Amino acid sequence: MTEINISYEAQALLAAMERRYACKRFDPKKKIPEQDLRLILEAGRLAPSSFGLEHWHFFVSRSQKTLDRFYDACFAQENIRTAAALISIAVRTASSYHPESDFVRSRSERFPGGYAVFIDEYRGYWDFLVKSGTIESWARAQGYIAATHMMTMAASLGIDSCAIEGYNEEAVLSILELPRSDWRISLLLPLGYRDEPVREKIRMPLDNLFTEKDL
Ligand SMILES: Cc1cc2nc3c(=O)[nH]c(=O)nc-3n(C[C@H](O)[C@H](O)[C@H](O)COP(=O)(O)O)c2cc1C
Repeated sequence: MTEINISYEAQALLAAMERRYACKRFDPKKKIPEQDLRLILEAGRLAPSSFGLEHWHFFVSRSQKTLDRFYDACFAQENIRTAAALISIAVRTASSYHPESDFVRSRSERFPGGYAVFIDEYRGYWDFLVKSGTIESWARAQGYIAATHMMTMAASLGIDSCAIEGYNEEAVLSILELPRSDWRISLLLPLGYRDEPVREKIRMPLDNLFTEKDL
């Protein structure tokens, strides 16, 4: 970016985004301060989600024994077993999103107007998701948004990360002792401090990526 008239906040955010890259190997000796880990989880908590349902639960794993099991479940990716912490972003399965489910009831009761108002708008969209067969991909997609928030927060704290989609879901569910009837894994997020040269960021020029389009 060459603009100079941008606010301090925007510069800091941009710097974090530019700093973040897919780290393939962390320094296994460096631990993440507890406060920083909490801030990263807080960034996930603040992420937006469809209908505000917060489809996710974040599981944090730090012991070498657990990381070694994840390493096997992730096709031997080095950033898994060298991570200081691994966040598994799990999301609930289709039955949780039924308009009459306990999950939808408890989440929606927090909103102005409560369940009655919420369900009026939600039911039609849920119906559309069911008919289009996209309810599971819809739920998984929510976890990606939380992951982006967490990776940006991590980068702003000088902590490296890598989004990981390459895993055997059955194996990950088994490590986390989550029943397949209730949970899916949206994404894994190893965190730590890089132990490798930083790779150049390769991106298309912005002008190739957007088009003004009005009728
Ligand atoms: C959804 C998603 C899944 C990814 N899965 C993996 C993975 O399993 N293993 C890996 O090494 N990198 C993975 N990556 C990292 C990408 O390869 C990387 O973000 C991309 O090449 C751009 O590079 P950068 O993040 O360094 O800018 C994943 C990234 C995303 C967004």
